[in-house]
Amino acid sequence: MKQYRIAAIPGDGIGKEVIAAGIEVLNALAGRNGQFGFSFDHFDWGSDYYKAHGVMMPEDGRERIRDHDAIYFGAVGAPDVPDHITLWGLRLAICQPFDQYANVRPTRVLPGITSPLRHVSGPELDWVIVRENSEGEYSGVGGRVHRGLPEEVATDVSMMTRTGVARIIRYAFELARARPRKLLTVVTKSNAQRHAMVMWDEIAAEVARDFPDVTWDKMLVDAMTMRMVMKPGSLDTIVATNLHADILSDLAAALAGSLGIAPTANINPERRFPSMFEPIHGSAFDITGKGIANPVGTFWTACQMLEHLGEPAAAARLMRAVERVTADPTLHTPDLGGQATTRQVTDAVIAAIQGDN
Ligand code: NAI
Ligand code: MG
Repeated sequence: MKQYRIAAIPGDGIGKEVIAAGIEVLNALAGRNGQFGFSFDHFDWGSDYYKAHGVMMPEDGRERIRDHDAIYFGAVGAPDVPDHITLWGLRLAICQPFDQYANVRPTRVLPGITSPLRHVSGPELDWVIVRENSEGEYSGVGGRVHRGLPEEVATDVSMMTRTGVARIIRYAFELARARPRKLLTVVTKSNAQRHAMVMWDEIAAEVARDFPDVTWDKMLVDAMTMRMVMKPGSLDTIVATNLHADILSDLAAALAGSLGIAPTANINPERRFPSMFEPIHGSAFDITGKGIANPVGTFWTACQMLEHLGEPAAAARLMRAVERVTADPTLHTPDLGGQATTRQVTDAVIAAIQGDN
């Protein structure tokens, strides 16, 4: 029997609650399938680890997860640790060295979930956002001098390389080609930012020549927010920079009903390093410990993980189980307007997996 080794990093806050739920669901799925199993290695890295050791993860942390088949990640962030420390100390400290340059964020209105858009009942909104995940606005280049003085200067330099842009655009074209509509929208801000963003547009046109079967268009990011709200059905696959896609995908998650259901995959397409799968949301300390975190985003990203591992049938079975559960409003957590608990949603998904033929 095939055994997948998964590094589980629950992190902080509700990250711990939703990853525990996700592991139960994955084990139920493996039991139902019988062809493969999971062995989970647990890593207690995050803000508590930081308070005890002064770092978010140990120095050899990456070495310890390097040979795993995938990383299942919760969220990081604590009220009493600055966000740039938690983010750079763990999540980005894994994404960047592991060259997980493609961040893939599917968005759909699942059965039973109400979109805040009144003209959307479901199929009109079915997108995959591809976010550049290794450079751009979050490259970490910049600095501060003359701290605290009136003449203080601070810069965050956006770095765009031809290699980095070409590979993410190619990844997005390939993904668009694999989806039924074969439709790609390339998002930039090439009117106001006249160097790197113009290079994006040029590279997109070059890569597009290799994909004559994919229809593509360009949008400026500000106009894109309007199109997502006003004409969601005109979009399918979307590619954008690190910053732009970060913002657009939170909007997408809200339009699909809740941040709690949105998943994301940090992919190293060449498979030189493990890829990392996580819900989009953060550690949500406002609801931590209450047992009401919505685990659906964590289940959905497990589907992405199964697809990446080469188990599409198991991924489809899990997605069917999730959709059967979201279709029942009595199984909605409070973020979706319901009263269900994480426990109830998890049990219902496990029951749906076991009842699935
Ligand atoms: P957040 O995503 O943690 O929460 C935003 C709002 O959505 C809160 O009201 C929360 O209760 C709700 N929410 C989020 N996920 C939910 C779920 N699964 N079920 C039900 N409700 C849910 O974002 P926020 O509040 O801006 O940040 C909290 C901390 O998380 C910060 O320290 C931030 O830096 C960190 N963060 C970490 C991320 C990551 O690890 N990838 C992503 C976003 C934020
Ligand atoms: Mg974000």
